[in-house]
Amino acid sequence: MDKYFRLINREHPLPRNYIPSDLVDIGLPFDALPGEQKRLLEEKTAYAVLELISRSRHEGLNLCCISGYRSYARQAELYTGSSYVAAPGTSEHQSGLALDLSCPAVHMELSEAFAETREGIWLAGHAPLYGFILRYPKNKEHITGVPYEPWHIRYVTRPLASYLTMTGLTLEEYHSLENPVEI
Ligand code: DAL
Ligand code: ZN
Repeated sequence: MDKYFRLINREHPLPRNYIPSDLVDIGLPFDALPGEQKRLLEEKTAYAVLELISRSRHEGLNLCCISGYRSYARQAELYTGSSYVAAPGTSEHQSGLALDLSCPAVHMELSEAFAETREGIWLAGHAPLYGFILRYPKNKEHITGVPYEPWHIRYVTRPLASYLTMTGLTLEEYHSLENPVEI
């Protein structure tokens, strides 16, 4: 199966020793110092983020990358038991395919208020054009197991992002289809 389609959640964890082979730092605008692990992303994901950020800058927006790759060990350090932070092995951040974004209007915080900012509204509408989905939508917590996170995007390629957006399906629902459409 295409690694970009992979379902990662509590029921479908990544192996403890899983480290993507193609992590890169391409100089995206991160709220993190050079050399920090969270600036890394899987390569295709990184270039898709670059396209997305470039377009948003043209539109006068100030999206900022907060957190990309997190190793299993780092996730274990952050894990508190709350549903906002996935247990080690169950976070998409370990795959390098997920990114948290924010903006100065909410002081670079990862909060629901981000959804109401110009940047958050633009991200929700445009992410699929660049191959991303908002992975933890509102009112889908019972399916994803994670509360609404308007700041967390996941790279799934453009065809799948378009399909999921048009149908309103989460990645969990897509993977439970008996006859998934060929993407
Ligand atoms: N905040 C999401 C669930 C994570 O830690 O991957
Ligand atoms: Zn996240």
